[in-house]
Amino acid sequence: MTNMTLPSRVKIVEVGPRDGLQNERSLVPLEVKVEFCNRLSAAGVQNLESASFVSPKWVPQMASSGEVMRAITRRPGTIYSVLTPNMKGFEDALAAQADEVVIFAAASEAFSQKNINCSIAESIERFVPVARAAKAAGLRLRGAVSCALGCPYEGEVSVGAVVEVADRLAQLGCDEIDIADTIGVATPRKTAAVMDAVSRRLPIGQLSGHFHDTYGQAVANIYASLEVGISIFHSSTAGLGGCPYAKGATGNVATEDVLFLMEGLGIETGIDLPAIVATGQWISGWLGARAASRAGNALAARARA
Ligand code: HMG
Ligand code: MG
Repeated sequence: MTNMTLPSRVKIVEVGPRDGLQNERSLVPLEVKVEFCNRLSAAGVQNLESASFVSPKWVPQMASSGEVMRAITRRPGTIYSVLTPNMKGFEDALAAQADEVVIFAAASEAFSQKNINCSIAESIERFVPVARAAKAAGLRLRGAVSCALGCPYEGEVSVGAVVEVADRLAQLGCDEIDIADTIGVATPRKTAAVMDAVSRRLPIGQLSGHFHDTYGQAVANIYASLEVGISIFHSSTAGLGGCPYAKGATGNVATEDVLFLMEGLGIETGIDLPAIVATGQWISGWLGARAASRAGNALAARARA
């Protein structure tokens, strides 16, 4: 079998230290966060979402983001990204020497209110100066569209709403737009339809898939996205994560599962799967939970045998 239509290489954005840890109830010590980031970059992660400059009242777990950014060992060539919902977040990100900042909007009004306390239109207005400042500082800029495949409050989200928000983020100068299944409800045909619709408005190389794995569909959704030409995917080692403002949503698709899929398809990621498996087992052990990665647990068991 040959790879006729799939890319030969994909970009993986590891979001475990941010999307993963932001949802942990007990406070994860600074040194564990730092070691997590360092292990991930040492495993070959070239895009690492390492922190989040949001209000510590809203997400206490991310309060140590400045310290994390200052303490990690920067691997040359790795792009360290952070969430910045407003100018306060951006200034902190700049001081912490982030390489890339992420503005995050939603395709659903109810989720926008719950997550960032404003309407979609207000959020875009708030992002204008952040985007301008990021460009002026020479930073990469990424934009996320939450609830692109379903909303915990509104249910169905129209494809038109996703295209509209993605387009507005692109107009702000985003280098990359993340199409996010915040609550992991998507199935492959729906995913393909949304990705296809957005790619009719924006260059497909600018789009990424950010899938939570709540209903076990994320790997299937990634495959469907690959087939329509998406070549950037977000994942979280050990499947950590969830959004504090998306009740019932579990973690992102596990990096181990995505790497196993890509290896099987002959698609390069530049990331060392055994090193990620070991990191996933280590962070899960630290958190006192079993890793939420089928491939990770299977490979770890095989390595122990
Ligand atoms: P607000 O309360 O409306 O903001 O929150 P405000 O401007 O009125 O400020 C209130 C207080 O927060 C003030 O402090 C500000 O200084 C402080 P006070 O005077 O009361 O002491 N503040 C900040 N502090 C630190 N850093 C900041 C910051 N901004 C204000 N950047 C705000 C609005 C957006 C700040 C708040 O709603 C917030 O932080 N929301 C973030 C929620 C969040 O982090 N959600 C999870 C990440 S998104 C996600 O997981 C989805 C994603 O993975 C994709 C997907 O799966 O869908 C990306
Ligand atoms: Mg997420």
